[in-house]
Amino acid sequence: MDAIIGWIGGKRLLRKVIAPYVPKDIKGYIEPFGGAAWMLLYKDKWGDLEVYNDLDNRLVNLFMQVKFHPDELIKELDWLVASRKLFGDILKQEGLTEIQRAARFMYLITRSFGSKGDSFGTSQKRGTSSMYNRLERIKDLHKRLDMVIIENLSYEQVIDKYDTKSNFFYCDPPYMLGYTYENSKQFSHEALRDILKSIKGRFILSYDDNPEVLKLYKGYDIKHVTRTKGINRKEGKSEFNEVIIANFKLEESGSSLPNSLGSGVKQ
Ligand SMILES: C[S@@+](CC[C@H](N)C(=O)[O-])C[C@H]1O[C@@H](n2cnc3c(N)ncnc32)[C@H](O)[C@@H]1O
Repeated sequence: MDAIIGWIGGKRLLRKVIAPYVPKDIKGYIEPFGGAAWMLLYKDKWGDLEVYNDLDNRLVNLFMQVKFHPDELIKELDWLVASRKLFGDILKQEGLTEIQRAARFMYLITRSFGSKGDSFGTSQKRGTSSMYNRLERIKDLHKRLDMVIIENLSYEQVIDKYDTKSNFFYCDPPYMLGYTYENSKQFSHEALRDILKSIKGRFILSYDDNPEVLKLYKGYDIKHVTRTKGINRKEGKSEFNEVIIANFKLEESGSSLPNSLGSGVKQ
């Protein structure tokens, strides 16, 4: 299924490329940097244990409300039409309850430019996206989260808690040269590398393709992949280069790879 919100750095396209590399024999599937959970939601079930984690408590609160109070969340969102005035009003007030805060967060992310949540987004070409479809997806996500554990920890605590030989971690940290999330201004890429170096389980890590990343993960199995970014009216399509890094041989776990999904593995 699709995620219920867009998220900067979300793996909507890349998940199709990464998924075939996830080993088939894992017991647990853990996402320490969950975001909107595009990878987790790509399959109905990845393992007997599934863990979603993110440090951002707005995301975690949204997932918690979907899991425990989907109908109340839908009620809160039902009357929130796409309006600049309403967006401005909602931006000014936090909401009193956790359900209201989750609805506010989902509304601001959905109705903003680039899912940044800070300014009302409109287009001269396309109509606004359907909130009703998203409300339907809340019901689907509610079911999907039934047996998923939701954590709100820093990634190193999650890795420490769930690290066993048969567990798998899909790690999608803030990119080195990418967007800086409010919570990742001090993010240490070296610290992440050091933690991943000593884990018992297997991991796949996605990153921006740059020499510093390649240097940090020298010796690991690395695949270079491309993602087609949205069409820029002036410059046409642009490609963004990313890498998938693993502490196991990537080919061995792969089944068939997609070749034309807007992103793919470079030959
Ligand atoms: C690239 S995004 C993940 C996107 C996600 N894979 C998706 O498809 O939506 C990185 C996420 O890491 C989270 N993050 C930043 N620092 C973190 C930390 N120390 N521990 C856990 N999560 C963190 C951010 O809040 C952000 O949601």
